[in-house]
Amino acid sequence: MNDKLEYLRTFITAVNPEPGKLFSENSGRGDIQPSVEPETGRFLSFLVHLISARRVLELGTSNGCSALWFMDALKENGGSLVTIDSKERLHHEALLNLQNAGFSEQVTAIFGDAEEETAKLEPGFDLIFQDCGKYLYPKMHEQLVGLLKAGGLLVADDTLFSVESGVRPNLGRFTDEYNRMVFSDPRLFSCILPVGHGLTLSFKR
Ligand SMILES: C[S@@+](CC[C@H](N)C(=O)[O-])C[C@H]1O[C@@H](n2cnc3c(N)ncnc32)[C@H](O)[C@@H]1O
Repeated sequence: MNDKLEYLRTFITAVNPEPGKLFSENSGRGDIQPSVEPETGRFLSFLVHLISARRVLELGTSNGCSALWFMDALKENGGSLVTIDSKERLHHEALLNLQNAGFSEQVTAIFGDAEEETAKLEPGFDLIFQDCGKYLYPKMHEQLVGLLKAGGLLVADDTLFSVESGVRPNLGRFTDEYNRMVFSDPRLFSCILPVGHGLTLSFKR
C-alpha cells in the first residue's frame, strides 16, 4: 500500500460487520474474486448520500462486501438494495453477512445469472453498480441504461483494467469497450476516476 492510500484509509470509518475487515479477509482467500477496496466502498456510500438514492441495484454480490457499503448509506434513508450473483456458495455467504449486519429486510439478494435476473426487474433504479463478469459490461449496457431512471447513476468497477499491468488482457478489452460505449452514448455523461482499479461513473440525462 502506498502512503496516499494508507493515509486516506485512516479516515474510513467502519460499519458493523466491517466491510473493510471482509475486504482484508477476502484478499487472503483464493476462492473469491476481489472485493471493492475500502476507498471504493466509502465512495459508493458517498454516492448514495449524494443523490439520495433509495433503489440500488448491484451486479456481482460476491459475499457482500460492496453490499455492506451500500447498506451503510441506505440504512439512513430506508432505501433498498437488489444484488445478484451466480455463485450459490457466495450468495449464501452474502446472506449471512448481511443478516449479521441487520440488513436482511432492506436487501433482496438473488442467486442467478445477472442478465436473466435483471430482465425481471422493474425499471427506475437510482443507482446501478456493475461489478460482475467483465464480458457482461458492454453486453448489459443497454439493459442497465433502461433500468436506470433519468438523473440516476451507472457505476462500473475495474474499468482501468486495460491499462493495468498484471490484468489479463482479455478482461481489459471488455472494460475498454465499455468505457468507449458509455462515453459515446448521448443519453449519458460519463467520467472515469482512478479509485481502486478504476470506476466509470455515468449520469443518465
Ligand atoms: C468482483 S466480484 C464482485 C465483488 C463484490 N461486488 C464486492 O465488492 O464485494 C464479481 C462477482 O460477479 C459474479 N458473477 C460473474 N458472472 C456473473 C453472472 N453472469 N451473473 C451473476 N453474477 C456473476 C461472480 O460470481 C463474482 O462473485
